[in-house]
Amino acid sequence: MSDNIYETQRLVDEYLLFHYGTPEDVLGWAGGPTDATGFPERVARYAADAPVGRALDVGAAVGRSSYVLSEVSEEVVGIDFSHAFIDAANQLRTNKKQTISRLVEGAIRDEITIECPAIGNPEGIHFEQGNAMNLPESLGTFDRVLAANLICRLPEPQRFLDRLPSLVNAGGVVVLATPCTWLEEFTPPENFPNASTLEWLKEKMGVNFELIKEANEPFLIRETARKFQWTVSQVTVWKRK
Ligand SMILES: C[S@@+](CC[C@H](N)C(=O)[O-])C[C@H]1O[C@@H](n2cnc3c(N)ncnc32)[C@H](O)[C@@H]1O
Repeated sequence: MSDNIYETQRLVDEYLLFHYGTPEDVLGWAGGPTDATGFPERVARYAADAPVGRALDVGAAVGRSSYVLSEVSEEVVGIDFSHAFIDAANQLRTNKKQTISRLVEGAIRDEITIECPAIGNPEGIHFEQGNAMNLPESLGTFDRVLAANLICRLPEPQRFLDRLPSLVNAGGVVVLATPCTWLEEFTPPENFPNASTLEWLKEKMGVNFELIKEANEPFLIRETARKFQWTVSQVTVWKRK
């Protein structure tokens, strides 16, 4: 059995809720950080700034951001390493609705129904399993690349950054969002940035890309009915020179 947490049913349900749940489904408390809900849609809008041909959502998870990209892109490829996440993304697109299990507390769970978003062009989206550190040449090139909360989950993030110049068309845009939560369970410490993540990105990306925007976007992941992860992702937008 895989020891990849992103292959577990618990994470599939957690991410289906994170991506497709309403703010009430995710938070359900007055006075909570409702502005942190809807992250997968909000962050994708940085890469959905103009009509384009092809867009790539890498580390797409269960796929919500790909729908936003499909509003402005003729073709969207959503890639994730997790077979379970890609299967869930494809099932939701086909069935339009899905019942998911939410942890309430202890061993108590409840069920809610989530729906495929009525936005964009689902027919133009192709979800597939793949590795951000080994993207094949056959993928072709893209006008927009979104990597949301991906790089600090890669064992060798540098390999993904090194692939970007050949992946992105001239004038194309890359959106990197990262909470900078570098953890040994995902990335060997020798592959952590040797300075702040922002300084490291400027050094590595600056050769082939111009930094055109910086922003901060909060996100909220529900763990139980009463416990949430509130995190701020650092967004940088890069234009291919
Ligand atoms: C923190 S989640 C972020 C998912 C999504 N972009 C979002 O913003 O909700 C990290 C994602 O990266 C995926 N991932 C991890 N390693 C990967 C790799 N080598 N190639 C592609 N995806 C990977 C995981 O399966 C997971 O879906």
